[in-house]
Amino acid sequence: RTALKGELLRIALDAADRAGTFLRDGRPEDLAVAATKSSAVDVVTEMDIASEKLITGLLAEARPEDGVLGEEGASVEGTSGVQWVIDPLDGTVNYLYGLPSWAVSIAARLDGETVVGVVYAPMRGETYRAVLGEGAHVNERPTRVRPAPEFAQALVGTGFGYLAERRARQAEVIRHLVPEVRDIRRGGSAAIDLCDVALGRLDAYYERGLHPWDYAAGDLVAREAGALTGGRPGEPVSPELTLAAPPGLFEPLQARLEALGAWHD
Ligand code: IPD
Repeated sequence: RTALKGELLRIALDAADRAGTFLRDGRPEDLAVAATKSSAVDVVTEMDIASEKLITGLLAEARPEDGVLGEEGASVEGTSGVQWVIDPLDGTVNYLYGLPSWAVSIAARLDGETVVGVVYAPMRGETYRAVLGEGAHVNERPTRVRPAPEFAQALVGTGFGYLAERRARQAEVIRHLVPEVRDIRRGGSAAIDLCDVALGRLDAYYERGLHPWDYAAGDLVAREAGALTGGRPGEPVSPELTLAAPPGLFEPLQARLEALGAWHD
């Protein structure tokens, strides 16, 4: 198992590096929206699609028996017990506008459990990686969460989905939270937000409505850096709610989000 995790980490680092470099160096000046998905503001560019092709090609070459789940439609059943969960470009809207906060996110699950997570943020020159039970690293340095502040001193990251009704609910939750904490950040890449908790650049992060490819790698990085992660009380992170914070902040934030009905549409 240890050798397998090492192999999966090497493959994930290599694929994230190649895709991130391709996205950074190949971004067309006149990049346009290629298609929309769940709503008119849920966009995909030709670069999301090309990045997913590049990554799935590398994975298929290295480990042809593995399953794959990708944001842009990659879906392979697999027979090895390993499943790759990939977001070939997390933070597509930032990328489209030339904002730097976007990343390639690649996680490997073994029999349903995430064992490797890699998030490469090319414009930051940083790769965040974690192996289950072996800690989290930024580039080659180990990283730990920031100790929990008082609730009122917490810098909390969040994000908004693409559906208008859901956004209206999310705005309602934020309306209550803003005056209760230090401040709110909306970075635009869930994978980076989760890693920012691992780096101590955010005290906490939560979002309703993410997909597994948005959170799979970042969730492991945050946990291996000492964060608690979860969804509704007693549940793991899920599309319903993704929450990451150090012990001592996680519990009151989860309780506050429950009181505010954060996972109701
Ligand atoms: C999005 C980003 C964003 C989050 C959205 C995600 P995408 O992913 O992670 O920060 O708020 O919910 O869908 O579409 O850029 O891969």
